[in-house]
Amino acid sequence: MSHYAYDDGDNAIVDTADNDAVDQENRRAGPSPERLVLSVFDQKGIRQHNSIDGARDDTDGGGISDHDDAGRVLLQNKLRPFRKGSLVGNVQKQRIEPLHHDFALDDPERESRLNELHEAKRQILELERKIQELEGRIPRKYPDVTFLNYKNRKRILITGGAGFVGSHLVDYLMMKGHEVIVADNFFTGRKRNVEHWLGHENFELIHHDIVNPLFIEVDEIYHLASPASPPHYMYNPVKTIKTNTLGTINVLGLAKRVGAKVLIASTSEVYGDPDVHPQPETYWGHVNPIGPRACYDEGKRVSETLSYAYAKQEKVNVRVARIFNTYGPRMHMNDGRVVSNFIIQALQNQSITIYGSGHQTRSFQYVSDLVDGLVSLMASNYTQPVNLGNPVERTIQDFAEIIRDLVGCKSKIIEMPAVEDDPQRRKPDISRAKKYINWEPRVPLQEGLMKTIDYFRKELARSNHSQRNIFVPETTEFRNLL
Ligand SMILES: NC(=O)c1ccc[n+]([C@@H]2O[C@H](COP(=O)([O-])OP(=O)(O)OC[C@H]3O[C@@H](n4cnc5c(N)ncnc54)[C@H](O)[C@@H]3O)[C@@H](O)[C@H]2O)c1
Repeated sequence: MSHYAYDDGDNAIVDTADNDAVDQENRRAGPSPERLVLSVFDQKGIRQHNSIDGARDDTDGGGISDHDDAGRVLLQNKLRPFRKGSLVGNVQKQRIEPLHHDFALDDPERESRLNELHEAKRQILELERKIQELEGRIPRKYPDVTFLNYKNRKRILITGGAGFVGSHLVDYLMMKGHEVIVADNFFTGRKRNVEHWLGHENFELIHHDIVNPLFIEVDEIYHLASPASPPHYMYNPVKTIKTNTLGTINVLGLAKRVGAKVLIASTSEVYGDPDVHPQPETYWGHVNPIGPRACYDEGKRVSETLSYAYAKQEKVNVRVARIFNTYGPRMHMNDGRVVSNFIIQALQNQSITIYGSGHQTRSFQYVSDLVDGLVSLMASNYTQPVNLGNPVERTIQDFAEIIRDLVGCKSKIIEMPAVEDDPQRRKPDISRAKKYINWEPRVPLQEGLMKTIDYFRKELARSNHSQRNIFVPETTEFRNLL
């Protein structure tokens, strides 16, 4: 008996009657939907045809006999093999339907064949469903990255690169044509944030906790690994301290070993509840060392201290960015911070809750502005800490109203008791950033909020895991790409 095999390379149908090796290979490859159908006929001893698309089988000198219903059905329906690159292939449900009419129902043997064909059809549909699901998870096309030759292309490590800020930095550096390695323990980060780069030759994702040493060869390191929002960093304060102390030591140690430049993501929280306003980098801060935020605030302060100790003692080339409140797509839904809380409450028509009087102020920068600032700082020769934030200050009450208007809902704004150690005023003095790295934020609040609202709207509309909400920033969002 002859067997059929589909050649993955050119889609040809190969008669392997005399070729045991190929036959074995086919068995190893597992059943394709066509093979499932064919095996049904094969088991029942129905004569096979060497050409599924209708050519005669001359090996038995006969063509197709009248009683060969199964063969005729296949010919009538022109069942064709899969093409390489088209995972779903050409098998269509309706192509097998006519079998109902071609078999006499009182023939038990044919009845049983019909059942087997139904089973084969069910398996084909199941395979098609699985393949479609898998195809949906593989981006067919990567964003078009710049080509850099080996002299200009850098290997860049981003710790915490699967998080909110980190993933936008990944996008930027990938688009610029660099090789990007993300090391993340996925505590607050998600693979989903960088899934559009998975498989790209310039991208690598390592599941790694930065509390443990990492040994790789890189030219630059952006050290962003650390939970950033109060509910996240307060969830496991000891781990937060370890990440910002041991983790930073590991990053600085790596930078020292391989001679990499390193940028540490610090925070405006190093200023605590400030009694100087706005806050310049020269201000030493007003931090409660044993309060609920201390694990983060003091952790970041030690992180800065370590950076300058390594710079002084080990000649590590460091940059320190003091990041102020940042918002944008890919923020956490359960972030617990003003922007995400207000947007989600407004989108769900719930009351918008303000903790405290609402007169406390905040300033928010859009994430692409921050990425711009981080890259500019890394590229500069400036080694002292630099504030990166938007100096436009607004009260929390104002934010609540702006977001409610942009969402277009009727949510009430209600006051809740103030949170312990919540800073009353926060506004960066960005004269240093303007002077030394030629940076200032550009994205207007309304524009950034609309993109963020759009992202959250899609997130809330998702009803199952495989639905995607892939946000790939437009290249024009980044100043340095223009
Ligand atoms: N977003 C802001 O408004 C803001 C403000 C000030 C400072 N920052 C700083 O910027 C950085 C990024 O913040 P974000 O908003 O993207 O937060 P995020 O929580 O979205 O991202 C942090 C990332 O670090 C990862 N991470 C945490 N602990 C880790 C560990 N031990 N090992 C490896 N990975 C670990 C998380 O899984 C996550 O992917 C943080 O260092 C944060 O302190 C952010």
